[in-house]
Amino acid sequence: MESLKAYEVLISVFVVLPVILLLYWLWTRRNIYKCDLSFIGYPIIGSLYKLRNVNSIISAVGHTLRYCKNGTACFWAGFFPVILTADPDIVSNVLRSQEFLNKAETIYYYMGVSLKGGLFTTPATEWVHNRRMINPCFSNNVLVSLFPIFNKAKNDLIERCDALVDNKNHNILNLLQTLTLSMTVETTMGKVMHKGKQESQDLISVFSFLMKYITVQALMSFFKLGFIFEFYSKLQQKRVEVWMFVDKLIQAKLNKCSNTDNNNNNTESRVLNTKNIDAVPSIRKEPKIFIDQAIKLYENQQFTWNDLISESVTIVAASFETTANAVYSTLVMLAMHPDIQQRLFEEILDVFPEKDFYIECDQLSQLSYLELVINETLRLAPSVPIIGRQAMKDTQIGVNLLPKGIQVFISIYHLHRRTDIWGPNADKFEPERFSVENYGEKQKNAYIPFSKGPRNCIGRRYAMFSMKVLLCGLLRNYKFKTDFKFEDLRCTHRVSLRYIVEPELRLCRRT
Ligand code: HEM
Repeated sequence: MESLKAYEVLISVFVVLPVILLLYWLWTRRNIYKCDLSFIGYPIIGSLYKLRNVNSIISAVGHTLRYCKNGTACFWAGFFPVILTADPDIVSNVLRSQEFLNKAETIYYYMGVSLKGGLFTTPATEWVHNRRMINPCFSNNVLVSLFPIFNKAKNDLIERCDALVDNKNHNILNLLQTLTLSMTVETTMGKVMHKGKQESQDLISVFSFLMKYITVQALMSFFKLGFIFEFYSKLQQKRVEVWMFVDKLIQAKLNKCSNTDNNNNNTESRVLNTKNIDAVPSIRKEPKIFIDQAIKLYENQQFTWNDLISESVTIVAASFETTANAVYSTLVMLAMHPDIQQRLFEEILDVFPEKDFYIECDQLSQLSYLELVINETLRLAPSVPIIGRQAMKDTQIGVNLLPKGIQVFISIYHLHRRTDIWGPNADKFEPERFSVENYGEKQKNAYIPFSKGPRNCIGRRYAMFSMKVLLCGLLRNYKFKTDFKFEDLRCTHRVSLRYIVEPELRLCRRT
């Protein structure tokens, strides 16, 4: 009798209880089954068996969306139904909704661990305060004050490219990353990364290591297995390296501030400014560095020490790779479309007839074709191809009531290539589609390289200004050529967009 009771208890603990919990869990998600969505894959097994490897994320997403109503699917990611969409209305509703301010846990959790938190990943409760505090660091005044640094990066880039004019093919992505990393660290942290130093190379390899593992951990998180990599000591070590890099910069800033009694808290930038003032009389403004504003927030107790580190790491991480990739993609597209490159060169030549020139912020508005070219590049090759949000409450999105906790993955990459919006040539590189005549409401609603709504990219104008300065310098001085065919470009996802095979470019000097 005694042993029978023990047996009954065991059955109820190991069988009945899990079944009840599973039924309860399914019941809490009942709204999702009522939704007007195409369901794909199988519960528990999920749909991830369709992924051949990490490089096939974008093609697997495309394959899934191709057969779904309005480019929206509900797929099983292990136990969890996840909505995957490239529908402009659902995307707009989600990104503008106050109930969808949280980032999707599966994609962003381990990114948050690597970045120590920060705007990109923090939950809405914390994000609202920090975003409000950081917004002024990206105001127009601040961005204009950064132009000397953008120009210095442009000059460095031109100088470094000079060594590549040898009629040979070069992969220039690494060079662009090095330059944009130095530019970002200088504009946000006030630190000059000296040319030729190993420091920036090391930092780039640490970041690309982290991006790779963030992607792998996100995939493993579909089965709640991302934690396995938390035991990988090299990953921990690389994270600490990034945090320490930023920590040291902040400590140095704080020491300098206290030593000089706040008289001169921006020495390195001042050195840069003086140099540029000699060359260009038009520079008047002192660069307004993000970290100086962030330190003020810390001193006023509006930021914790962790905020200071995490927001700094986040800004650097979010900035340099996205910008470098976008500049690289633009050059690749132009090398593949020589007629478009020539037209753009002529526009740049009109505004900057000399090879050696300084770019003022207001001159950029004269380069309207450059804007079209960058827009078209970011349409076909958005630096952040997939983003995700999570419902904080049951939320009505269009005809569907999405339950609290549901994750919505948005494929910016596929939204930008819908033929019903962008026409039968959606996969072609045609900057003219962004001209005033061609770019209508339908396209505006479906164009989100910087996301949209309250949690959009805080650095979008910084990115556009810096990209324009770098591209003007490069295209004024060099012609880019490639043998790589546009049709052979294949994209993949490493948090930011990468090419499976990175096209190499040949540089010719413009006379
Ligand atoms: C071509 C360049 C860039 C592109 C295409 C881009 C794109 C994006 C996108 C799509 C998001 C939304 C991510 C999401 O919802 O998960 C985002 C967020 C963000 N970006 Fe950018 N970005 C670029 C450059 C920059 C730069 C230069 C900075 C900083 C200087 C920056 C800082 C950030 C930050 C901090 C966020 C998080 C914003 C928040 O959640 O409040 N980005 N970016």
